[in-house]
Amino acid sequence: MPAADEPDEFETAPHLPPARFVTFEGGEGVGKSTQIRRLLGHLARLGVAAVRTREPGGTPKAEAIRSFILQGRSEEWGAAAEAVLFAAARHDHVMQLIVPNLEAGKWVLSDRFADSTRAYQGLTGGVDDKTIDALEELALDGHQPDLTFLLDMEPEAAFRRVAQRAEEDGVPTVPDRFEKEGIEYHRRLRDGFLTIAVRNPGRCVVVAADGDENAVAAEIWRIVRERFPELTDLDEHVAVNGHAQDGFAGSGE
Ligand SMILES: Nc1ncnc2c1ncn2[C@@H]1O[C@H](COP(=O)(O)OP(=O)(O)OP(=O)(O)O)[C@@H](O)[C@H]1O
Ligand SMILES: [Mg+2]
Repeated sequence: MPAADEPDEFETAPHLPPARFVTFEGGEGVGKSTQIRRLLGHLARLGVAAVRTREPGGTPKAEAIRSFILQGRSEEWGAAAEAVLFAAARHDHVMQLIVPNLEAGKWVLSDRFADSTRAYQGLTGGVDDKTIDALEELALDGHQPDLTFLLDMEPEAAFRRVAQRAEEDGVPTVPDRFEKEGIEYHRRLRDGFLTIAVRNPGRCVVVAADGDENAVAAEIWRIVRERFPELTDLDEHVAVNGHAQDGFAGSGE
């Protein structure tokens, strides 16, 4: 409780809407990275400072754990050990990157977050809910996303996108630890993500990801503005006063 003569945060900065933490979840190739880039663009046009990050990773320590896992070196340890490793990486990411940026007034958009551990290692990998809950509590320390988009589509169609991306990039890609799993695994993964969305209706929104990129981006932007009405006020401000100030802190992938 602030002392009576001490203004609280709202009184000192009534013009600053709270920064939001938004995560993008779903299987491989559903368009998470594409849609984060599109949302960063929308926010930038309103002058809303935002940073993009990803999991596993986001900080030097967490990126070290990422390469250990995605190279397949954790596979023989089993899904429970992988869940512990992800939790260690996530805790560093939350404390060193996510919370400091939110406190500095920047939105944080994360390409995967805790729901991926629940879907991959938990519901698909067989680690029980209680263990996943405990690890999540430890890793997040109360910092749940304000909003989570679950991009949902048939894994077969998403795989075709990934194959096309590899062809366009012209680099032969070596599938990572999870990409090399078969189609049945990815179907179970999709069901796992949908189960998480049903269990968390206040936080998660399922978006059909098989539409055209612009249509998916428009739907996501509609939901973001509906969920955070303060953006509509900024929108009107930009319409009246021209382009917003340069408040964009997003980084490339
Ligand atoms: N709505 C869309 N329609 C068609 N192609 C799309 C659409 N969205 C993204 N793509 C393309 O599909 C490929 C995969 O998209 P993207 O890399 O954004 O997916 P991702 O979910 O981040 O994948 P990963 O799990 O591999 O990181 C890219 O080549 C991208 O340009
Ligand atoms: Mg991606």
